[in-house]
Amino acid sequence: MYFSKIVSSGSCVPDMVVSNNDLAEIVDTNDEWISSRSGIKRRHFSEGENTSDIASAVAEKIIKRAGIDPLDIELLIVATVSADYTTPSTACLVQARIGASNAVAFDIGAACSGFIFGMSIADKYIKSGVYKNAIVIGAEVLSKYLNFKDRTTCVLFGDGAAGVLIERTEDNTGILAEDIGSDGTKAMALTGGFSPAANSFNTTNAAAERSLYMDGRAVFDFATRQAPKSVKRLVEKAGCSLEELDFVLPHQANSRIVEVISRKLKIPMDKFYMNMDEYGNTSSASIPIALNEMFEKGLIKTGSVGVLTGFGAGFTWGSMLIRF
Ligand code: UT7
Repeated sequence: MYFSKIVSSGSCVPDMVVSNNDLAEIVDTNDEWISSRSGIKRRHFSEGENTSDIASAVAEKIIKRAGIDPLDIELLIVATVSADYTTPSTACLVQARIGASNAVAFDIGAACSGFIFGMSIADKYIKSGVYKNAIVIGAEVLSKYLNFKDRTTCVLFGDGAAGVLIERTEDNTGILAEDIGSDGTKAMALTGGFSPAANSFNTTNAAAERSLYMDGRAVFDFATRQAPKSVKRLVEKAGCSLEELDFVLPHQANSRIVEVISRKLKIPMDKFYMNMDEYGNTSSASIPIALNEMFEKGLIKTGSVGVLTGFGAGFTWGSMLIRF
């Protein structure tokens, strides 16, 4: 039986850092509101880099760290909701940049659960014996979708990318269980990049609305209800207990959401890793950025058992139990 094990990681965020005070200069907000409601203090915004640029930088770091030949990469998945183009996929742009000519490359979109969904797909290819390895990247330049006149959304999001290389192993380690799901009935609670069906033979009154819209309360309620349930189902599937987890890495949307998840699961806050103070909510990039940071800080040891859990637009959710 095959398992998928993480063997390398990398991340890349734009150099430009925008503080809460910087935002307060262009929109009616303040550091106290943003910090206390979300835990966010800064975010990185693109100075022109697009999603494929930062995703390619991530892939290069992953490959360098792993010491592998790009020609040996068999699968390349980019999770994103802010691709450079509708087509070609960001993954194909990355593939060309890094010279991974033998890889099958495609994008998937599941918003803030995107990295978990991408890992889930890669895991199936690896478990079934189709591929021996895969690079999975979450990459977003969300700033191009932000309306900097809408204080209820523009203060919460940031740009960034990160990812991992997973390889086939026969040891009982790596991705051991998952719980993923969707609820399309709540799709309109968090939207972006609307593209109306207009053409030369059809007129529509709908305006192309690129900006991100969010019903914050609805998303908050969904996340605090669904994420704890998903993690409980996950540990049950894995046949272990919540007490056995060394850490939980939640999607970095909002520290108050994480506090509620911690309370509902009765897992102490010091087991939850958080870095949204530095990056804001980077959607599909948030979990791998934090995971890479944990690796770089030496917080994940061989044998550590952790849960990654994401939730967001769609609605979608996804949790994964990994033995490192
Ligand atoms: O990946 C998933 C992405 N989404 C999320 O994680 C978001 C989940 N939702 C949330 O975290 C919270 O709902 C928010 C942080 C978005 C909002 O917090 P809230 O406690 O639900 O605030 P609210 O929307 O009820 O707004 C409270 C007040 C309002 O003023 P009034 O009507 O009470 O006078 C807002 O206009 O706060 C005001 N407000 C702001 N004030 C200063 C909203 N945004 C801001 C702002 N600065 N940026």
